[in-house]
Amino acid sequence: KPTNRVFSGVQPTGNLHLGNYLGAIRNFVGLQDTHECLYCVVDMHAITVWQDPKELAANTREVAAAYIAAGIDPKKHVIFNQSKVPAHAELAWILNCVARIGWLNRMTQFKDKAGKDREKASVGLYSYPVLMAADILAYRATHVPVGEDQKQHLELARDVAQKFNNDYAETGGTDFFPLPEPLIMGPATRVMSLRDGTKKMSKSDPSDYSRITLKDDADAIALKIRKAQTDPEPLPETVEGLEGRAGADNLVGIYAALSGLSKAEVIAKFGGRQFGVFKPALAELAVEKLSPITGEMKRMLDQDRSYIDAVLASGAERANAIAAPIYSRVREIVGF
Ligand code: ADP
Ligand code: NA
Repeated sequence: KPTNRVFSGVQPTGNLHLGNYLGAIRNFVGLQDTHECLYCVVDMHAITVWQDPKELAANTREVAAAYIAAGIDPKKHVIFNQSKVPAHAELAWILNCVARIGWLNRMTQFKDKAGKDREKASVGLYSYPVLMAADILAYRATHVPVGEDQKQHLELARDVAQKFNNDYAETGGTDFFPLPEPLIMGPATRVMSLRDGTKKMSKSDPSDYSRITLKDDADAIALKIRKAQTDPEPLPETVEGLEGRAGADNLVGIYAALSGLSKAEVIAKFGGRQFGVFKPALAELAVEKLSPITGEMKRMLDQDRSYIDAVLASGAERANAIAAPIYSRVREIVGF
């Protein structure tokens, strides 16, 4: 039974953005020396809302390229595609029978993503958190680095693990699944939209100006930061002064996350200055930090697709080698 196994994933839904990088992928990189890591491209989650089949494969490569370019070592750790490992779907069915409808009814992300006409949302979108529990538990992972937006889903995964262990205590369930713990690290675990500082930066926002993507070049990054919504006041002299100023707070948070400074240190540097000064400095920093990654991603996607595909193929084999024996044991515990 592992004690330090990490599982996490990103959906191949296109528009991979700065929030995905600062809130997820960058943290994945930092866990490699201390944990055994499985980093998944969760295409089965992606299709809970409609995905063009022709774009899905390209978007899957894009996420894999981002993992590799950001510094995840595919020789030491496992980069793979969810749909290539059958245990995710198989275990998800069993866990669908463990999870309660009332638990899912409390998930706020379903309410957000389903929108007004909830009856028209897919059943998959509704049971998405159960598939996420299966993703983690299929490997008996102990730790899950996620952004704040995924905390509620991770709590559900713990509840599902606990109930499985209890329900099947007599046939070997006791302590079978570890209760996975969240790893929510560093500042800016929540990057907000550049157009509306009260909404999170997201792949699905209709406005391209709402997010910096990992495909943006230096000019696009500078333009989007220049157009980012802020108020006319200069930056405050203290961090407390950012309260109630969502746009300013978000840009300072992004500067802090990219530079490794605290927000207070950023304010010490730029407090009292106009956005006309701060925004170009932020753009320069963003380009400096992102361009090595986006440049390498572009190189791989343009010239080295077969390498990405080889990483995914080997990753699927290794992931399957971990999950298959665990799922065999689950079958026995359940009585299949
Ligand atoms: P999205 O929500 O943009 O569709 P995913 O659901 O694929 O992205 O999430 C991938 C990872 O990126 C998750 O760990 C999630 O917590 C993180 N993430 C997504 N959006 C943000 C954001 N705006 N700020 C910080 N982290 C984010
Ligand atoms: Na998300």
